[in-house]
Order: sequence, then C-alpha cells, then structure tokens
Amino acid sequence: MQYKHLGRSGLRVSQLAYGAWVSFGNQLDVKEAKSLLQCCRDHGVNFFDNAEVYANGRAEEIMGQAIRELGWKRSDIVVSTKIFWGGQGPNDKGLSRKHIVEGTKASLKRLDMDYVDVIYCHRPDTSTPIEETVRAMNYVIDKGWAFYWGTSEWSAQQITEAWGIAERLDLVGPIVEQPEYNMLSRHKVEAEYLPLYSNYGIGLTTWSPLASGVLTGKYNKGSIPPDSRFALENYKNLANRSLVDDVLNKVNRLKPIADELGVPLAQLAIAWCASNPNVSSVITGATKESQIQENMKAIDVIPLLTPSVMDKIEAAVLSKPKRPESYRSVLQRLSDMIYFLVKENDYCSWYWTSEDNEGFQVLPWDPFSDYALSIGLS
Ligand SMILES: NC(=O)c1ccc[n+]([C@@H]2O[C@H](COP(=O)([O-])OP(=O)(O)OC[C@H]3O[C@@H](n4cnc5c(N)ncnc54)[C@H](OP(=O)(O)O)[C@@H]3O)[C@@H](O)[C@H]2O)c1
Repeated sequence: MQYKHLGRSGLRVSQLAYGAWVSFGNQLDVKEAKSLLQCCRDHGVNFFDNAEVYANGRAEEIMGQAIRELGWKRSDIVVSTKIFWGGQGPNDKGLSRKHIVEGTKASLKRLDMDYVDVIYCHRPDTSTPIEETVRAMNYVIDKGWAFYWGTSEWSAQQITEAWGIAERLDLVGPIVEQPEYNMLSRHKVEAEYLPLYSNYGIGLTTWSPLASGVLTGKYNKGSIPPDSRFALENYKNLANRSLVDDVLNKVNRLKPIADELGVPLAQLAIAWCASNPNVSSVITGATKESQIQENMKAIDVIPLLTPSVMDKIEAAVLSKPKRPESYRSVLQRLSDMIYFLVKENDYCSWYWTSEDNEGFQVLPWDPFSDYALSIGLS
C-alpha cells in the first residue's frame, strides 16, 4: 500500500481507504465491522471514513466501538467524519456554526474519540454564508476536534470562495474534496476541479469507485443478488437509477477488458480511480472480507493501465468530460466566426457546430442588427 499526501497537506493517507456508508448499521454490526476493519488494516489501509448521517449515527458508534475493541493505536489511523445531516430539527442540519459545533461534538461522542483527523462539510449549504462555515470549521480545528477540514460535493466556485475567505481572514482553508468518482461519473474530478489542484493544493478522497457495486458486473437487469446493496429496501431508488440499459451496456463492454488483463472488473474499476494523480485516496466499501481481499489487489492493477488500456476503457464507457473551454479557444472560435461572416459579406445564413458537435445554431445575418453594428461588421 502506498501512502499519499492528502493534497498539499502533510497528512498521509493510504491510496485505498474504507468507508462505512450503507454497510455499518444496515448490513453489519460491531462483530462483522471488526473483522472487516482488521482485514483492511492487514492490507495497509490507514484511512477510515464515516459521517454523522450514516445509519443515523449508528455507523460512527460501530466504527468507534470496533476500533476500541481492536485496540488500535489512534495515531496509526486517519479517521474522518462528515457533518451536514444531523437530524430532523431546523438546526440539526446544514453548515451553520451551531450545527457544525454541535454536530462535531456529537460525532466524537459516538466515535468515542477525542478528535477526527479530517472533518468534511458533507454538502454545500446555500442558506448559510460560507464565511460562517469557514470560521466554524476553523473553530473546530482550534479546539483540537479535527486536524484538517474539507468539503464534499461542493462546486469549484464554492471551494474557491471558501479559500478566498480563509485567505482574507488568515484562516485555514479546506484541504480536501470528497466527490463521487468512478468510470461512470467523472466531470467534477476531471474537469470542474482542475484549477483547484494547483491553486489551492486540494486533494481528493473519492467515493463509490464501484458505483455502489455496479462496476463489479454483479448486477444484471432484473437480477439483483439478495445479499447486495440494491436488494436493501432503502436503496431501491438508487438501484432503479443505476441499473439502466446505458449503464449495464457499459459494464458489459468493460468486462472483456478486465478479462484480457486477467483481473476482476472490481479491481480494474478501483485501480482506474486510484491511477488519477489528483486522487489522494479511493474510499472503498465492502460488506464481506472476500470483497476487501479482492478490492485491495487493485493496487497491483494500477501499473497495467497503459494508455492503450485507458483508451479501451474510454471507448467502452464514453464518459470522459469535455475539456473546459479556455478563454483562448473561445476567442479563436469568435474570430473564426467573424472571418466567416466577413467573407460571406452582407447577408448570409450561417451555422457552426461546437467542437463536440453538440451545439448547433442557424442564425440569419443581419448587417444592420445591433450585434453587427456593435462588432463593426455592418
Ligand atoms: N461524501 C459522500 O457524499 C459519499 C457518498 C457515498 C459514499 N461515500 C464514502 O465512500 C465510501 C465508499 O462508497 P461505496 O460504498 O458506495 O463504494 P463502492 O465501491 O461503489 O460500493 C461498495 C459496495 O459494493 C459492493 N462490493 C464491494 N466490493 C465488491 C466486490 N469485490 N464484489 C462484489 N461486490 C462488491 C458492496 O456492497 P454489497 O455487498 O452490499 O453489494 C460494497 O459495500 C462510503 O463508505 C463512504 O465512506 C461518501
């Protein structure tokens, strides 16, 4: 196992982590959690993720008790939790100073820990000023309840705003984002967040590398294994959204690529996430030791991901985000357009398609329009 810096911070996290979502409290209790956590540790995992909302707090209790009973040294592990959905009351959710402080204290109590290493804002809260959240997160750190703070599923704009506030107030900014990232869901990590890596040193701990198990290839239309996540009553909606033809076809096209490499699809999918240099740690999930044994071997699959294998994967999933358009390329397009209009002179019908052939416009050219006058083309 490799240990990567969490973004630009000094904290080192295992390249593969293990999280408690769905499993702890819904599928597993302390006894099973202990053996799964130990299995992860045996494979070198040092980073364990949780949230106040997982199984309404029960997941934190299970993880805390399991770690206590396993007798692990606290400084050997990195534990994170996430604050946002803490209950039903008007002040039990969101990112107000009140909920951040009360939610953090409640999480620590359930985990039976003095601190978590990383605390995340589980979602953006558009009804609370970001400055209030930045100040509250710094309070949590100053109190010693967390060492670092981060965000989960915030937009690049919101993270940039948080950093602007932190810099203006000489406070600590978020060092990490926790977005969904897998072969089927890539936009934030590969496009939207690009400026954040170099500008703020943001690291990523990504979630659902197997898209909830879909990328193991174990789900088919109309056949859901009874001991799987999608068989759980509460996750029927997620199952319905996930097990659609488009997704299952992609999975079917991925299987031969994994076969050719001689590895299970789950390993290929996890290795693919871990191979992105901006990803500090891939947070995996598992309900059985056999899954952990299989998933951890993904580390050995990373070197097999040659450019030609990556191309085959892209051809199977067709999910690579479009390159964000640069200022320069927009200018170039505009000048091409103007050149074309001038060439076609006074009156013309014209159209252009954008690079990806998604945009299509037919506009009559009116040399006396405000637009034509404004750009001096009439
Ligand atoms: N920040 C956020 O908003 C957010 C959201 C979601 C998750 N997360 C974090 O990310 C972690 C991982 O997410 P995830 O659990 O969705 O990850 P995932 O890797 O996409 O799915 C894990 C699930 O897939 C099944 N599975 C795993 N390995 C398998 C294998 N080798 N063969 C067959 N089935 C296998 C297991 O479920 P079954 O055995 O039950 O089928 C397992 O619980 C969470 O625990 C949480 O810490 C964060």
